[in-house]
Amino acid sequence: MAIIIDGNALSKKIKDNLRVETDALFDKTNKRPCLAVVLVGENPASHIYVASKEKACHHSGILSKSYKVENMKETELEELILKLNQDPEINGILVQLPLPEGLNEEKIIDLIDPIKDVDGFHPYNTGKLWINLKPYFFPCTPWGIYELIKEYKIDLSGKEVVVLGRSNIVGKPIAGILLQKFPYADATVTVCHSRTKNLEEHLKRADVIVAAIGKPEFVKEEWVKQGAVIIDVGINRVADETSPKGYRVTGDVDFQTVEKKASYITPVPGGVGAMTIAVLLQNTVKAFKIQNGMKD
Ligand code: GUN
Repeated sequence: MAIIIDGNALSKKIKDNLRVETDALFDKTNKRPCLAVVLVGENPASHIYVASKEKACHHSGILSKSYKVENMKETELEELILKLNQDPEINGILVQLPLPEGLNEEKIIDLIDPIKDVDGFHPYNTGKLWINLKPYFFPCTPWGIYELIKEYKIDLSGKEVVVLGRSNIVGKPIAGILLQKFPYADATVTVCHSRTKNLEEHLKRADVIVAAIGKPEFVKEEWVKQGAVIIDVGINRVADETSPKGYRVTGDVDFQTVEKKASYITPVPGGVGAMTIAVLLQNTVKAFKIQNGMKD
């Protein structure tokens, strides 16, 4: 039976510590960190995520300013980003993804001032991550995974990590982080995706699997090596008539069976997902400190 990695517990610890830190910053500066959250469109999942981000900001003594609009032209969104870049009251800017069709995500992210890019998606921060220099911010979900690995003292040095999925939000940046000569990282990393041949063979030799493909219960027990570490990034809704809501949330890993073989496993919910927001808040406090000359 695997050790269940408790993302809720670490997330709570980080958020509680940030509350203490932001109260101390307020005593010192009479200001609180402030996150601008931009949400365009009606994507229900995005609305739920944004509501949780706002609630978490409040918990940790961080101000949040929301810009929620049903529809926006690209030029209007560009103007909003440029305005937020200039606004000294705003420390972090988060544009919830995916953006509706017709809005060019890459172009919008490029416009965010890297020093306010608390999602860590700007090419400046992404580039710094890959060339081993410190970016201002690491992307929230991958850094949350790294925080969990450190918390449980799982040393990945020289280990075979197989990442499933090559998204800009999770797959690519987690590969970059685990490749670096950071404590507990320093791994041999393979990134697999929809065109990968012999996927099962890659998975079977993995010491660590990071599953981030958005396919419910995709990773099966027979593909997992005895004692492997399983990091499940998936958040999938599947129909379930036995649940009052008519659905349940499940990861990219078949938890029931894989848990029996793994040494460590993250549950869904309560694993990686809980960490994303905690890191976003950490990044926002860091942004405040950089912008107020308290950190370089
Ligand atoms: N959509 C899914 N994950 C994320 C995230 O970490 N940040 C933003 N901005 N949008 C997302």
